[in-house]
Amino acid sequence: MQKMTEENLKAAFAGESQAHMKYINFAEKARKENLPNIARLFEATAYAERVHASNHLRALGGLQDTTTNLVAAKSGEDFEIGEMYPAYIAVAREQGEDKALRPMNWALEAEKNHSVLYGAAREKAEAKQDISAVDIWVCDVCGYTVEGDVPDVCPICGVKHEKFSKF
Ligand SMILES: [Fe+2]
Ligand SMILES: [Fe+2]
Repeated sequence: MQKMTEENLKAAFAGESQAHMKYINFAEKARKENLPNIARLFEATAYAERVHASNHLRALGGLQDTTTNLVAAKSGEDFEIGEMYPAYIAVAREQGEDKALRPMNWALEAEKNHSVLYGAAREKAEAKQDISAVDIWVCDVCGYTVEGDVPDVCPICGVKHEKFSKF
């Protein structure tokens, strides 16, 4: 693929992904405002943007076998842990942007678990095995992700276990 088209596809993938996420959040808000049909409209269009994003990802060759996908996923998390969030946090601190610091710090800490979980899953996938069937819990507030038993309180943000979602 020629460079410019590849860059355009990447930009389109990023834009559609963001629209998907934005509309999911807009739908939740509409539901809280007791506007269930507007919520449904947001959910439908969010799904459509996901279809667009997935099509762009495939055209970019970004969808491989699971072992390769786990390597890509871990390297994305490691970039966020090692470079992206530390640099972003330093800038936010320098600029006194406390409102930005909290979600960035939460994300940085949660990504560390993601990297470990992906690393372990890659070893299994390389051996042509699935990971075990234990529950995976995610903190609804900060995104902390853990396998096995749900913690009493989130080690990153401190909310109680009721605020965890099970996968
Ligand atoms: Fe992550
Ligand atoms: Fe949390």
